[in-house]
Amino acid sequence: MKRSFEPIWLALPFPAFVIAAEGVIAEVNDAAEGFCMASRKQMLGRLLVHFAGVGSAVEDAVAQAQGGMRSVVLHDVKVGWGGQARGLANVQVTRLGEGEVLLMMHPRSIADKMDRSLLHRNAARSVAGMAAMLAHEIRNPLAGISGAAQLLRGGLSAEDQELTAVIEDEAKRIGDLVNRVEAFGEMGPGVIEPVNIHDIIDRAKRAAAAGFAAHMHFKDAFDPSIPPTAGSADQLLQVIINLLKNAAEASPNSGVITIKTTFRPGVKLSLPGKRSQSLPIEISVRDNGPGIALSILDDVFEPFVSTKASGTGLGLALVSKIMADHGGVVDCKTDANGTEFRLLLPVWKGEEH
Ligand SMILES: Nc1ncnc2c1ncn2[C@@H]1O[C@H](COP(=O)(O)OP(=O)(O)OP(=O)(O)O)[C@@H](O)[C@H]1O
Ligand SMILES: [Mg+2]
Repeated sequence: MKRSFEPIWLALPFPAFVIAAEGVIAEVNDAAEGFCMASRKQMLGRLLVHFAGVGSAVEDAVAQAQGGMRSVVLHDVKVGWGGQARGLANVQVTRLGEGEVLLMMHPRSIADKMDRSLLHRNAARSVAGMAAMLAHEIRNPLAGISGAAQLLRGGLSAEDQELTAVIEDEAKRIGDLVNRVEAFGEMGPGVIEPVNIHDIIDRAKRAAAAGFAAHMHFKDAFDPSIPPTAGSADQLLQVIINLLKNAAEASPNSGVITIKTTFRPGVKLSLPGKRSQSLPIEISVRDNGPGIALSILDDVFEPFVSTKASGTGLGLALVSKIMADHGGVVDCKTDANGTEFRLLLPVWKGEEH
């Protein structure tokens, strides 16, 4: 049976193009028309560079495939079309033969990030369950250990007392860790009130500058038109403090932390099965440190992922959980020149929350 692939081609849910030998667009599917905001007629027969831009990552990937590479995949590249930015996408180019290549783009939508953020939330839930069990299993023997160390202390020389002090201190450290992990389970969104994010950022900045970020230089750019968000001020404060702490720890000698707020009333998020949600409040915390280590980049929001000798790896897991509890999103961009965490939050809509 001979089968026409045309309906399948047209129905592909992501933009796809066939590019002929001289870089001419030979075919486009429906999703490509939507993504590029141009019709088939406008695109067929025209040069790809005319739309994608000379020297663009897309042109480069196509040239590599036409030059002999079987398949080229670029992750998270900036894609433009007709001089307009179209956001980040994964770009894949595969050779079809005779100089022809198939160009596919997988745009990274905010919904995609939201999905990931929900995944982190599940990770946090599994931590909560484990924490409850651990807390129970660890606390009792721990109390026994520090109690016994205290009893021992009485009959010992000063030198040996130092050792019992180590036992007590370390037992306390384990106890603190258990409490911190356990806090995951107990924390919900709590009381929801209107929160002025600039007050929160100021409080976090003052705490940071007086302590762990004393060696950092702060810059900010606040959008004064931002209305209050809906949530718990204390929890949002923890979010900002965790981000500032990571930024300060990434630059142990000195560095710059830039905090920017923006109001984008157009930003909407739609998830399957849920009504679309508006997340117009954006907070960005950027540092000029060395960037997140590639080995953990995909898992930074997972609990217990840390590259620090004394880190618990719970900071960003907590950030992610609090943001999910607030109906918001967190994502991050990082390279060798620094790291930026971006928070998107909803607006306070009166008592209906
Ligand atoms: N701004 C940043 N620059 C570079 N790396 C970062 C940055 N923020 C986070 N990371 C990396 O992500 C890891 C996880 O961060 P997270 O805050 O979850 O845990 P932690 O800072 O290691 O420990 P804790 O927050 O419990 O003290 C860090 O160990 C670090 O490697
Ligand atoms: Mg941290």
